[in-house]
Amino acid sequence: MAIASITHDTGIASITHDTGIASITHDTEWLQVTFSSGETSKFYVQWLRDNIPSGRHQDRGQRTFDINSLPQHSLSEVTHTGDQVAVTFDLDQCTHVFTASWLHSHRNPITLRTNPTPVLWNAEGQNELSFADYSTLKSSRKSLHSWLRHIRDYGYGLLENVPTEPETVLEVVEMFGYVRDTNYGKLFEVRAEPNPSNLAFTKLGIGMHTDNPYRDPVPGLQLLHCLVNESDGGETQLVDGFAVAEKIRQKYPEAFWLLSTLPVRFRYLDEGSADLEATSSLIETNSHGEVIALRYNSRSAQAFTFPSEVMADYYAAYRLLGELLHEPEARIEFRLTPGQLMIFDNQRVLHGRSSYEEGSRHLQGCYADKDSLRSFIRVLEEKK
Ligand code: FE2
Repeated sequence: MAIASITHDTGIASITHDTGIASITHDTEWLQVTFSSGETSKFYVQWLRDNIPSGRHQDRGQRTFDINSLPQHSLSEVTHTGDQVAVTFDLDQCTHVFTASWLHSHRNPITLRTNPTPVLWNAEGQNELSFADYSTLKSSRKSLHSWLRHIRDYGYGLLENVPTEPETVLEVVEMFGYVRDTNYGKLFEVRAEPNPSNLAFTKLGIGMHTDNPYRDPVPGLQLLHCLVNESDGGETQLVDGFAVAEKIRQKYPEAFWLLSTLPVRFRYLDEGSADLEATSSLIETNSHGEVIALRYNSRSAQAFTFPSEVMADYYAAYRLLGELLHEPEARIEFRLTPGQLMIFDNQRVLHGRSSYEEGSRHLQGCYADKDSLRSFIRVLEEKK
């Protein structure tokens, strides 16, 4: 984006040819830019002073001062050279240069998404199940990038040919980020145990749920690596909680309001070692109304404490959510075999498994955070 010419003394820009900006006006408080695309953006003087390019660390991009050190400025002078706008502020008479492309990319209003736009899915995703090859991901940054993007956009990823050596799941995390350690340790075993502390450590079927809703923050990613599966059941099921939440929002807005507003307490008690508690609505939204997380786990949900007037409606909404999460039309299903691994966004994709009677089944799991995955995707894209 380049600027042909502007004049600032009259507040009206003169443009000699179309280089991306149609016109510019300003007074002492505001610089207004109309881009050749027709978009117009106003830049407030204090915003401009707060965002001067020299106010950022050259390598890290971090701002080097705080707002409380900035007195109220006025625009003193505006000039341009080529595709650069030079702004002089009255108090210090310093001139700071903004590129036209930077101004365009920071025009307002732009609604910032908390997360990249998710690709919603249902049981039709069963036809697109594919397992990436572990050794290929380790040797090809392009393949790794593609796999990580799938996890970011769809909320899950599948891997095969992972060595069935114990603790290899930790090496998979090291491809993109860091393990989230908890009171369960860096990794946890999922297999039938004689005295289980958790339903996961039995042969019972487990309904759709998110893990650890009693933590703050909830672990963002969960990995499960299959070491042994000789069972006569134990199929893995995944459902896109964001797709279910959007369905409720569209068809049952009152239920959506209840589920995204009223707080529920979750708790995990392991006497003598852990007493974890966190409180959140079952569907969490941000200030733009985007669904950003679900917490759904009847095992750790505590008794609701809502006003009596809403209790009946809340239970109807809660049951609706549970029914839609367990609809066969909503889920994908597959049997993890030794050497296969799945990773999923624990704040979006709910997981469950069918019961099994006979045969041993042993998975090793761990948690990781989403921010390191998203960071590594960006790093890979910068190196392209
Ligand atoms: Fe689980």
